[in-house]
Amino acid sequence: MVWGRFEAWDTLKTVKFGRICIVGASGAVGQEFINLIQERAWQCDEIVLFGSGRSAGKRINVTGYGELIIQNISQSKLTGFETALFSAGASVSRQFIPEFTKYGTLCVDNSSAFRMDASVPLIVPEINGKQLSGEERTIANPNCSAIILLMALSGLMPIGNLQKVIVSTYQSSSGAGAEAMNEMLSQTQEVLNGQPAEPKIFAHQSAFNVFSHDSAIEENGFNGEENKIVAESRKILGDAELQIIPTCVRVPVLRAHTESIAATYNQPIPPLDQVRDMIRSAPGVKLQDDQANNHFPMPIDASGGDDVLVGRLRIDPSDPNTLLLMASGDQLRKGAALNAMQIAELMQTLR
Ligand SMILES: NC(=O)c1ccc[n+]([C@@H]2O[C@H](COP(=O)([O-])OP(=O)(O)OC[C@H]3O[C@@H](n4cnc5c(N)ncnc54)[C@H](OP(=O)(O)O)[C@@H]3O)[C@@H](O)[C@H]2O)c1
Repeated sequence: MVWGRFEAWDTLKTVKFGRICIVGASGAVGQEFINLIQERAWQCDEIVLFGSGRSAGKRINVTGYGELIIQNISQSKLTGFETALFSAGASVSRQFIPEFTKYGTLCVDNSSAFRMDASVPLIVPEINGKQLSGEERTIANPNCSAIILLMALSGLMPIGNLQKVIVSTYQSSSGAGAEAMNEMLSQTQEVLNGQPAEPKIFAHQSAFNVFSHDSAIEENGFNGEENKIVAESRKILGDAELQIIPTCVRVPVLRAHTESIAATYNQPIPPLDQVRDMIRSAPGVKLQDDQANNHFPMPIDASGGDDVLVGRLRIDPSDPNTLLLMASGDQLRKGAALNAMQIAELMQTLR
């Protein structure tokens, strides 16, 4: 397993970039890229925003860069970029990333297009960032639920070898994009007004409801999201044998995914105070384990933050080698835009 622990990026908040672009700037992840560029004070020679014809012409104010206008992406506009941040879905990534990389642009991709491509690194900087040499031109950002799961477990390596993980997710509507988030808001209003809530993006009502993740059920009976968690976690950790049994569910939460995790190791879990110390010392993770006040990881606390919250620690009474925990992380940030930007920051330091 990898668990490389890259700890330096936290101090790299002001990173200089050449000309960069965001592909999918109008979307839920795209908006978060723009927020984070401002928060992390990225110094870029120029920022270009790309979308489809639907958002072309839309103006977005970016502190330090003025009012930027989203352009319809096309073949003729792809030259001269140092870095391209992609969040426009797998088909757009498949179409444009090979074109950008021809010109030497580093592409960090949030879609699933290249994640399982053996030649493309799948990176969570704190866990396997040390795999990067600086020469890569396409780097994949993992599935958001996989990132939150692995971040929650990232500090626990001293416990022993991880052998099996059972994880249940409580995934927010924004995980399916900006329109899904808007649908949940409008359905909430409709239900409160006593009107029928019409599902359009999801197959089922998202307001005041819980349903199995909207990705298709695949041959093995698991849905696409569940299979991504398994395959991508194994790739990131370099452990093809790791047993991961996920159940992915949507809950009526706007933002941040929560996970209930049972992690089994090859030896007994140490006293929980030691486990808490491990979590406290892990970068990108924050302990939220306040038993006296029943305050454990919640999406409302994780939303808008960089850290994955971890807590509700218990040892399985039927198995001393199994740790039970909860995690909550903003999947638009650490599960998508923030992780991708940390990759780009790390690559700047390696160039
Ligand atoms: N939402 C999450 O929590 C999350 C987490 C991890 C990874 N991701 C991945 O990130 C990607 C974006 O997700 P999202 O949630 O931000 O989706 P979204 O809110 O639906 O946004 C999609 C973005 O893609 C753009 N786009 C769509 N078709 C395009 C085309 N043909 N050419 C150029 N731009 C196009 C859209 O631009 P227009 O407005 O112009 O159509 C929009 O900016 C997806 O691959 C998703 O799987 C999302």
